[in-house]
Amino acid sequence: MTPSAPRRLVIFGASNIVSDLFDCALANGLLPAKVVLHLPEPDGPRDIPLAARIEALRGLCDPPQVAMLDDFQPGAGELYLLGPTTPTRANLAAEIERRFALRYHTLVHPTAYVSPLARLGQGVFVGANSVIGPGVRLDDHVFVNRGVTIGHDTHIGSFSRIQPGANLGGLSQIGHGVTIAIGATLLERLVIGNGAFVGAGAVATADVPEGVLVLGIPAKFKKTL
Ligand SMILES: CC(C)(COP(=O)(O)OP(=O)(O)OC[C@H]1O[C@@H](n2cnc3c(N)ncnc32)[C@H](O)[C@@H]1OP(=O)(O)O)[C@@H](O)C(=O)NCCC(=O)NCCS
Repeated sequence: MTPSAPRRLVIFGASNIVSDLFDCALANGLLPAKVVLHLPEPDGPRDIPLAARIEALRGLCDPPQVAMLDDFQPGAGELYLLGPTTPTRANLAAEIERRFALRYHTLVHPTAYVSPLARLGQGVFVGANSVIGPGVRLDDHVFVNRGVTIGHDTHIGSFSRIQPGANLGGLSQIGHGVTIAIGATLLERLVIGNGAFVGAGAVATADVPEGVLVLGIPAKFKKTL
């Protein structure tokens, strides 16, 4: 019997986490087949260029093609995922929506635990060693990085990103476009407004209003974004 070809993952946009997406695809037996670029994603200081990230796949799989969105046409058997975790994620999704009627793949690393009582929308990413508790709802395109825990019954709105090692208590309502930065902790039963940013290492002990940055322990208002 001939083994069937691996399913092909197409990633729209690239950022520094694209290697995590390649890694997670391979761990799931998917082929990272294509990176489709649209908005310019210039390399910042200490960034690793996309070409080097693709080169690093040599010997593991055929290298993904890089194409521009203007030249892209959906193909049979492809799975789709957004690449950037920044706010450009929502703009890119809107542009793709304008051009194509795609459904997105939900990509979960095999070492993550997702409760069967949790609900994950389309385009959600869950990184290695993360734990998603029962009753959790992750809306479309939520990005959960590595080593995150999300407590029972917490709801996270679309396009929010939860960075490595963050711990979120249960029964919380997190808006859309929210960032919970690396190593932050949220106590339970909190309401975090749309577009809010909980900074690295902060401990949120109270609700956070829409569109503000909070920092420190306990987390305090720093600025309006
Ligand atoms: C929110 C964040 C971006 C900093 O915001 P910023 O506006 O760039 O902050 P600045 O660098 O201008 O610093 C403003 C002040 O806050 C302090 N500060 C910055 N981040 C802080 C943090 N996480 N906790 C406490 N203080 C912090 C700075 O030292 C500075 O202090 P000062 O006013 O006394 O000089 C940063 O804290 C953060 O969380 N980054 C995201 C990290 C992350 O999750 N990366 C993803 C890894 S995969």
